Amino acid sequence: MNRAIHSGVQQIAHDAKTMGIAVIGCGYWGMNYVRIFNELVEARVVAVCEQSPERLKEVARRFPNVYLTTQLDDVISQPDVHAVVVCTEATSHFNVTRRLLLAGKHALVEKPLTTTSAYAKKLIEIADAHSATLMVGHTFIFNAGVRKVKEYVKQDSGRVYYLYARRTNLGPIRRDVNALWDLAPHDIAIFNYLLDRTPVWVSAIGGRVLGNSRDDVGFISLGYPGNILAHVHVSWADPDKAREVVVVKSDRRIVFDDLNGTEQVRVFEKGVSRVDEEPLNYGESRFQIRDGDIISPRIEPAEPLKNQCRHFLECVRTGKRPVSGGVEGRDVVRVLEAINRSIELKGLQVPVEDKADYVHPNFSAPEAPECSLR
Ligand SMILES: NC(=O)c1ccc[n+]([C@@H]2O[C@H](COP(=O)([O-])OP(=O)(O)OC[C@H]3O[C@@H](n4cnc5c(N)ncnc54)[C@H](O)[C@@H]3O)[C@@H](O)[C@H]2O)c1
Repeated sequence: MNRAIHSGVQQIAHDAKTMGIAVIGCGYWGMNYVRIFNELVEARVVAVCEQSPERLKEVARRFPNVYLTTQLDDVISQPDVHAVVVCTEATSHFNVTRRLLLAGKHALVEKPLTTTSAYAKKLIEIADAHSATLMVGHTFIFNAGVRKVKEYVKQDSGRVYYLYARRTNLGPIRRDVNALWDLAPHDIAIFNYLLDRTPVWVSAIGGRVLGNSRDDVGFISLGYPGNILAHVHVSWADPDKAREVVVVKSDRRIVFDDLNGTEQVRVFEKGVSRVDEEPLNYGESRFQIRDGDIISPRIEPAEPLKNQCRHFLECVRTGKRPVSGGVEGRDVVRVLEAINRSIELKGLQVPVEDKADYVHPNFSAPEAPECSLR
C-alpha cells in the first residue's frame, strides 16, 4: 500500500488556484480532514501520510485519487504540497510539525498543539522564521454556536461571573495522553476565546476510575483576570455524553449545548446583581433579581471543521493571523501543564506560567527534536 507520491502527483491535473494539502495521520479524525478539504473548491488533498497499512487501505477505498505514503519525507519533498494537517496522536505533533515547518509547509495541527509549552514555543519560532502559517485545531472556536455565545458574552450589559463546561462520554480512551489533555483543550480554548484572556491560576484533580495508567476523569478550576471563575469536568467514564458550556453573567445565563440539534444556544434573561447604593447593614448589600425571557437564537447550520479548514486556507493565502494560531495553542498547553502540576500537588492552586523546562512524567517518551519518525 505504498504508492510513491511523486509519480502519483504528476498524473493529477491540478487547477493552479487550488492549494495542495497533505494529511499526516489518517485515523478516526484525519479522515474527516481528507473529506472536507476535498469538498472545498479552493483546496485538494494531494497526499495522505499514514503509518498503518489498514488505514491507508481505507483511504484508498474512499478517496481513490489521493496518493498514499508511510514516509513523511515523501510529503516534505513534494512541491505540490503547500500545506499540511497534522492529525497524529498528540505526542508526535511536535516532531512531525517541526519537520514540516522547517521544509516551509504551512501547518494546521490538531489539539493539543504539543505536549509541552517549550515545544509549542519552538514551533511558533520555526513558523515565524519560515513565514509559515501555524494553526491549531481548536475546532469549537469555529462552531457557530460558540460564536453566538461570544456575541452575548461581549454585549455591554452585565458582567461575567463564571463559566463551566462538561465534556463527558464513555471513551474513546486514548493511549498517549490522559482525559484532561484529550478533552479539556476544547473547553480551555473556548473560555479563552469567549473572555479574550487566559487564566492566571489552576486547581485540578484527576482520577483513574477505570484503573488505567492515566487519569480518565478530571475536575479543573481556573481563575481568569477580573475575578472570573471557570470550571471544566471531563470524563472518559461517564455514560452521559455531554458537550456543554455555560456562561453566567449578572443579567443572563448563556448555555451552549453542542448535542442539542434544535436549540444549540439558549439565553436565559435572568440574573442577580448587587445594587450600588447604601448597604442595608454593615457588610450586607441589596441585590436585584432580574427575570426575563428565554431566547433560542437562530444558528446557521455549518460544519465547524469545515469553517476551520476554510479559515486555515484563508490565512495561508493572505498571511492573516489565525484565530487559533500557535500562540493560542501554546496558551492552552501552558494551562494543561499547570493542570498537571496541580494534580501532582493534590489539587493545590498553581499559577499558569511559562514552564519552558517542564516535562510531565506522564509523557514517558517526549520526543527530542533530533528524533526521527517511527
Ligand atoms: N478537534 C477535534 O474535535 C478532534 C476530535 C478527535 C481527535 N482530535 C485530535 O486529532 C488527533 C488524532 O486523533 P484520532 O482520534 O484521529 O487518533 P487515531 O489514533 O484514530 O489516529 C491517529 C493516526 O495517526 C497515525 N500516525 C501516528 N503517527 C504518525 C506518523 N508519524 N506519520 C503518519 N501517521 C501517523 C496513526 O497510525 C493513526 O492512524 C489527536 O491529536 C486528537 O486529539 C481532535
